Amino acid sequence: MAHPSRRRFLHSLGAGAAASLVGAPWLHACGLSGTTAAAAPDATDGRPPLRLAPSLTPAGITLTAAPGTADHGSTSAPAWLINGSLPSPTLRIRRGDRFQVEMRNQLPQDLILHWHGWSPPALMDGHPRLAVAPGGRYAYDFTVSEQPGTYWYHSHTHMRTGEQTYRGIAGLLLVSDPAEEALHLPTGTRELPLILQDRRLDAAGTPVYSPVGPAMMAGVQGSAPFVNGVHQPFLDAETALYRLRLLNGANARVMRLARSDGEPLVLIGGDGGFLPAPLALPFIDLAPAERADVLLDLRGRRAGDRVMLRSVEFAIPGTMGFMGGMNRQGQALDLLEFRITRQVNDPAVIPTRLPAPMLPDAEDAVRERRFRFDSMMMSHTINGRAFEMDRMDVTVPFGETELWTFENPSAFPHPVHLHATHFRVLSRTGGRGAVLPWETGAKDTVLLWPQETVQVVVRFTRERGRFLMHCHNLEHEDMGMMANVEVT
Ligand code: C2O
Ligand code: CU
Ligand code: CU
Repeated sequence: MAHPSRRRFLHSLGAGAAASLVGAPWLHACGLSGTTAAAAPDATDGRPPLRLAPSLTPAGITLTAAPGTADHGSTSAPAWLINGSLPSPTLRIRRGDRFQVEMRNQLPQDLILHWHGWSPPALMDGHPRLAVAPGGRYAYDFTVSEQPGTYWYHSHTHMRTGEQTYRGIAGLLLVSDPAEEALHLPTGTRELPLILQDRRLDAAGTPVYSPVGPAMMAGVQGSAPFVNGVHQPFLDAETALYRLRLLNGANARVMRLARSDGEPLVLIGGDGGFLPAPLALPFIDLAPAERADVLLDLRGRRAGDRVMLRSVEFAIPGTMGFMGGMNRQGQALDLLEFRITRQVNDPAVIPTRLPAPMLPDAEDAVRERRFRFDSMMMSHTINGRAFEMDRMDVTVPFGETELWTFENPSAFPHPVHLHATHFRVLSRTGGRGAVLPWETGAKDTVLLWPQETVQVVVRFTRERGRFLMHCHNLEHEDMGMMANVEVT
């Protein structure tokens, strides 16, 4: 099952897992050592408290998208909200249950919602041709048969996905099942759904969406860290084990997540469910749309300590030069500060084995395809073509295993996303030259830094019909780095 190139990363929880990451020069992360948990009071004391989105069961509910006002902690500002909430409500569902949601569009633009990481029938998937006009409605009704895991939903409107998602149309989807419940992972106040984003703020502290100039090439990025729509929040925490359901909900920014106290993050799941076993990692890279299910163990800390979940500074892999310099990737962002206020005795146990989904095997592949994700001269294309709504770009036979190779000859990172399936990342050549530990489970999005080529094993076994493949840099997607994929 395991491929040799990947086997060395597949350590179970223990010292070996973290140690295996040391040594590759590009893996060097700044700020991982030498910081202590107990910080003196400083500017961060002005932080607002973290907010969690309301949690809903999507069984006969309405999701109404409308303009409103969002409380960002430091300021209030106009935003686009679903049911008045930023972020959009967290939808929790059990595997096998019926998902019945009516979307109402009260925005001044067309809108359609997509359930990222799920494989619903094609007409339920939020293809941009299904967008409804202002005042319109769309009824979603299907059975959720996804693996237990962390998924999300967001706008998928043609050429407006970047703007609508940035303004607030994005929320988490959490799927559970009995196998997950048997793990007794942290729940209640110790399970935190967290949407990580960056924003550019104007002088009044209002997020600005402005995909012009360099942002047309690099995507929209900002230097202000937001978690669940709150600017640089904190959370009062206990000396306990926490489960973080992390989504990189940024339009364009790649994050390198780490703890400020040098302790590892314990990764238990990714895009499409659990890993086979937990991995203790010094940091986890998360590109836009990727998810990480992480255990944050604060039991070694004491009341008064502070632990920052941050995106640490990193050097951009691949070639640099003028275009690479336009990337604006790699700056540090302090995301969420855990303030340990209470000493408790938490007997939670970190499982040693996890119920990981089956993935297709390269040995079964009957076909190969290649896709070149290129950005040049203000255009973003796949195999030289920009998206056209009614042109079928890829036709895939249902149920057949294929090898898909993604190439990035450009100066910008491309997180490549497939609808309606999950895939196994087989290899990466160029750039970082390896499959990374956080890419070893079921994936629906995989990051290509400049000059990287990534091969995945993919099989569509869920639904027939018209789906999509695209770059999840939302400005790239809106400018055409997207293709229709028909499963027949
Ligand atoms: Cu989150 Cu078509 O994607
Ligand atoms: Cu998707
Ligand atoms: Cu891209």
